[in-house]
Amino acid sequence: MPDLIISGGTVVNATGTAEADVVIDGEKIVALLAPGVAGSVGLVADRTIDASGKYVVPGGVDAHTHMELPFGGTAASDTFETGTIAAAHGGTTTIVDFAVQRYGERVQDGLEAWHKRADGNCAIDYAFHQIIGGVDADSLAAMRSLVDEGITSYKLFMAYPGVFYADDAQILKAMQVARDEGLLTMMHAENGPAIDVLAEQLVAQGKTDPYFHGVARAWQLEEEATHRAIMLADLTGAPLYVVHVSAKQAVAQIATARDAGKNVFGETCPQYLYLSLEEQLGASSEEYGAFEGAKWVCSTPLRARAEGHQDAMWQALRTNDLQVVSTDHCPFCMKDQKELGRGDFRAIPNGIGTVEHRMDLLYQGVVTGRLSLERWVELTSVTPARMFGMYGSKGVIQPGADADVVVYDPAGHTSIGAATHHMNMDHSAWEGFEIDGHVDVVLSRGQVVVDDGVFHGRAGYGRFVKRGLSQYLV
Ligand code: URP
Ligand code: ZN
Ligand code: ZN
Ligand code: ZN
Repeated sequence: MPDLIISGGTVVNATGTAEADVVIDGEKIVALLAPGVAGSVGLVADRTIDASGKYVVPGGVDAHTHMELPFGGTAASDTFETGTIAAAHGGTTTIVDFAVQRYGERVQDGLEAWHKRADGNCAIDYAFHQIIGGVDADSLAAMRSLVDEGITSYKLFMAYPGVFYADDAQILKAMQVARDEGLLTMMHAENGPAIDVLAEQLVAQGKTDPYFHGVARAWQLEEEATHRAIMLADLTGAPLYVVHVSAKQAVAQIATARDAGKNVFGETCPQYLYLSLEEQLGASSEEYGAFEGAKWVCSTPLRARAEGHQDAMWQALRTNDLQVVSTDHCPFCMKDQKELGRGDFRAIPNGIGTVEHRMDLLYQGVVTGRLSLERWVELTSVTPARMFGMYGSKGVIQPGADADVVVYDPAGHTSIGAATHHMNMDHSAWEGFEIDGHVDVVLSRGQVVVDDGVFHGRAGYGRFVKRGLSQYLV
């Protein structure tokens, strides 16, 4: 007898929906049965979860998180433990976090340090990309061992001079290695040196509020860097994945490259679909005054709604000009963290915490008719699993797959706020958001880790996923 049957639900995969019972034994999905079949053959499980009226979807794959990331003299406030518990509450069952190498450090040491932080602490499965924050002969050589470590993608930064920045010569060399090794290049595409000039000039004029973070990081500098990254990738033959795209002009660059048949992909994040320069970065409150906007300082920045970027992101998700929605989860508290940048927006640690809310926030695209059910699952689970070499075990409800499963209630309701979220943050970037829909039950490899808002998992249950090469390239 199997361990578990999720019965009566509507199973949603990228290829369609079907009424089916999902049979789980141990860590795996072992069968999908048409309604009534289990009863007619007398199949009973140790436990049955009634999913009548609910969707049964593959567990979310968040391909862009930064637990504990050191940044701006502090570190992202979620540990692997708190961050993965929060992720589980939101229906995400796999994260791909970024191991960090900085200039002058060895890649192997950065990776080992990241394993030390994560191993034994995660509540759900996790994998790593590798940040190459200092491209030199040593790190280029080390990139050749990454695939063996199960790390098949790495990130370069065209922004943050003096921290993670790579110049064009370094990018070109790294992409040549990536092409040879089959690594997917992930690019932070913003022209950092130009941003730093504008930021310095703004601060010199006394324009120090968080709002000016968005002014300095102009869309032209995202479009330009995106174009440059695409051209360097084209020249080398390396596939390219542009992270956290927020400018509609950057999407247009990606779309043009894709139309020309290039292996160019892009991700956006919930903040770029919903939030804006005017409403959030420009916000003011009794508690913080104009510094309120610090809650939403992230890079790329939130963009002007008047310019139509948010609608353009939704549209690009429909047309597959963008293929993935990740969170870029990089939480910082206001107290002692964001506050470091009072009086100078350049010193505000960059990042927003969203890992708990991605499935819910994207589901609103289904509610409003912007996305199909299948597209919701594709953007949040199927394609990130394929893009980053985990599909088959992750990203699908089918026999043989890991039993990473979410029972999602379309008739449920979720109120988002700092008082109820599980992320280690003293505020929420999503305070007051009301969600049509509710994450009811979350399974990680066959174990119920969340049941109606109650955590039943265990830090240390999550396993490191050694990823294969991208399964998404043409
Ligand atoms: O603001 C952000 N995105 N912080 C995290 C680091 C990065 O660039 O992804
Ligand atoms: Zn970035
Ligand atoms: Zn990031
Ligand atoms: Zn419920």
